[in-house]
Amino acid sequence: MRQKLVAGNWKMNLSYPEGLALAHEIAILAGAAQLTPDQPRVVLCPPFIHLFGVAQHLPKAAGFYLGGQNCHQKDSGAYTGEVSATMLRSVGCEYVILGHSERRQYCHETDDLLAQKLKAALAAGLKPIFCVGETLETREADETFEFIGRQLSDGLFHLSNEEFDQVVIAYEPIWAIGTGRTATSAQAQEVHAFIRERIARAYDAEAAQDTTILYGGSANAQNARELFSQPDVDGGLIGGAALKPADFITIIQSF
Ligand code: 13P
Repeated sequence: MRQKLVAGNWKMNLSYPEGLALAHEIAILAGAAQLTPDQPRVVLCPPFIHLFGVAQHLPKAAGFYLGGQNCHQKDSGAYTGEVSATMLRSVGCEYVILGHSERRQYCHETDDLLAQKLKAALAAGLKPIFCVGETLETREADETFEFIGRQLSDGLFHLSNEEFDQVVIAYEPIWAIGTGRTATSAQAQEVHAFIRERIARAYDAEAAQDTTILYGGSANAQNARELFSQPDVDGGLIGGAALKPADFITIIQSF
């Protein structure tokens, strides 16, 4: 079911004590702000080793959930250095980010591999936050819609209706990630509407209306309200600003 949602992607930042301190501070501010559960739903996605500790600080009464930043496509076995979806579930994760552009770029994750990861996450009972987004080059060549359409059809639309029901989509234009150059609310809305239209084609109108679609890329305490006011923007996947507790709470309150 479509839901207002803000997810904080901490990426590879903060030592373990620093991560716990951040979670603790977010919990205190969330309490002070008297956040209401699921208005919006909030997901914290710290590095793997922080997950269990952060879980102890999660303000669950305020509707906070835990998510991984990636998972392996296999459930267990001789895959040194990897973490499975089942393991994430076992420390209390409900979500997992898949297909982030940084993993597509630096870890060479392909649509085919992501298809396997999606299946593994869903089989373990995790809700994937599946990322799509174009480079600046693609946008300037006027190929954004074609590119995003392909990422959706190759990476995501192989799922059954029931599986797709569990998926959150994040539109993260690569040129906006960590650059301070946010997409305008009109640019975000345009792509979000396009994604919804493609979902309607691949599944049906109901699935399109029910899918939660987040915007990510230099979203912050100043621009969140404008971005979230767009009819097809259901929330945000927040990087840098998720490491600043007061800003993160302001973003959560921006609907
Ligand atoms: P920034 O908010 O730091 O631009 O990062 C966005 C992002 O990549 C979230 O996954």
